Amino acid sequence: MKNTVTTLKQMKKDGQKISMLTCYDYTTAKIMEESGINAILVGDSLGMTMMGYEDTLPVTMEDMIHHTACVSRGLKNTFLVADMPFMSYQTSTYDAVKNAGRLIKEGHAQAVKLEGGASVCEQIRAIVKADIPVVAHIGLTPQSVNAFGGFKVQGKEYDQAIQLIRDAKAVEEAGAFMVTLECVPEKLATLISKELSIPTIGIGAGAGCDGQVLVYQDMLGMFSGFKPKFVKHFANIGEIMKDAFMTYDKEVKEQSFPSEEHNFKIDENILLNIEVMAE
Ligand code: KIV
Repeated sequence: MKNTVTTLKQMKKDGQKISMLTCYDYTTAKIMEESGINAILVGDSLGMTMMGYEDTLPVTMEDMIHHTACVSRGLKNTFLVADMPFMSYQTSTYDAVKNAGRLIKEGHAQAVKLEGGASVCEQIRAIVKADIPVVAHIGLTPQSVNAFGGFKVQGKEYDQAIQLIRDAKAVEEAGAFMVTLECVPEKLATLISKELSIPTIGIGAGAGCDGQVLVYQDMLGMFSGFKPKFVKHFANIGEIMKDAFMTYDKEVKEQSFPSEEHNFKIDENILLNIEVMAE
């Protein structure tokens, strides 16, 4: 079944949970498509996971379009959302519509995601007016890392919690068809999910959300070292890859790879003639 804005909204009405993962390349997109994941987010987290930046701030429209187009070529039924990078929509509604349009036209996304609540409602309204579906993103919004003073859980204090509820209602009212809740206390996220008619997609926001999203390298255990509290390793692909790379290195050096089964053949008579010519 093809996932669309309509089917994703219907899933909330039917009490079915929505699965979403980040993805940044064609090969992984194909595997996710075959796995039945409902939606893929080409997140600006690619700045960290694919490009090695400290945060998402340096990511450009060109980076987003490039990776979104790669992912789109691997998909048929999975819904594709692309992140609007830092400063591609904050500057004006004109920039917001123009850049959202590029992610749809050049990246072949079906929706765009942007960070912020009430403060970006004008942009959400303008993009929706251009018939581009919008996913909002509230709570911990990584593009505001400098304003927040680090990556911190949002909504733990009374005032912050009230602001989050207001932001959630504001983005729904502005026309967002879905909203991501990042690093929000579980009970607050559950309350927001009940208050809204649009689906909430949680990351570090508990099971009361209407769906979940994770960064795929996190859930596959591809990074060693720091593991955020909300991440579960569904596999240890990092270890499997490292073992395979080490075995390859060893076999190349001890000359057990490539072996007979990997070689192409040439007719012995042709080879003989070549050897005579070469003399
Ligand atoms: O950029 C991203 O990957 C995201 C998710 C963490 C929701 O915004």
